[in-house]
Amino acid sequence: MARRKKIYEGKAKILYEGPEPGTIVQYFKDDATAFNAEKRATVEGKGVLNNRLSEFFMKGLAQIGVPTHFIKRLNMREQLIRQVEIIPLEVIVRNFAAGSMSTRLGLAEGTALPRPIVEFCLKDDKLGDPFVSEEHIMAFGWATQQDLDDMVALALRVNDFMSGIMLAVGIKLVDFKIEIGRVWDNDFMRLIVADEISPDSCRLWDIETGQKLDKDVFRRDLGSLTDAYTEVARRLGVLPTNV
Ligand code: C5P
Repeated sequence: MARRKKIYEGKAKILYEGPEPGTIVQYFKDDATAFNAEKRATVEGKGVLNNRLSEFFMKGLAQIGVPTHFIKRLNMREQLIRQVEIIPLEVIVRNFAAGSMSTRLGLAEGTALPRPIVEFCLKDDKLGDPFVSEEHIMAFGWATQQDLDDMVALALRVNDFMSGIMLAVGIKLVDFKIEIGRVWDNDFMRLIVADEISPDSCRLWDIETGQKLDKDVFRRDLGSLTDAYTEVARRLGVLPTNV
């Protein structure tokens, strides 16, 4: 088989040139990192689970009319995606206080927020992905006011979809992060959901027991990350098979 051209290697994924112009192959690694890669491990099976889960969420979003980069899953670890121009911002939506919001604002983890809150962080590993305001984003030209309005609308639609799908299997969606990219269709620019949606980028708590079923299991040494992600996949009916 011809070797593919690697475009980019990140902490949890590798991007290769796709078979058609405008496409990319996204490969999910088993590597887990936290605290800006200060903590690292290999978690067997994580890439396979996240490939399936991201496929499941992205397909569901497409079904309710939210555009995403997902084209099709190719195999256990790879999916074909649309090439996008990533907006250099992490878009975080929070329904309950946790993580950095709890630290920043002194709120107990699990405190219900008055409404979903959308936050932006600059995607910059060297700076530790700092929190930025809409003022920063527009002043430095990372996105326009129109982009910001569209990003918030997209993020809130993803939140409604993900909250509902999780609630149906007894899981509370505490918060999550998405990345958004630009695509041009017939010279018409629009924003679509890119990167991945998986337990690596969400906080997921069992509604009954409060058990964490997301990357905090790794960040806080709470047990087996593979078991936690497998439980999410099992409840959603998307346990990987050997294809
Ligand atoms: O750390 P913090 O509380 O700000 O994270 C909020 C949400 O965004 C969590 O679900 C976390 O997993 C996700 N996140 C992420 N990648 C980052 C930062 C946060 O997926 N670089």
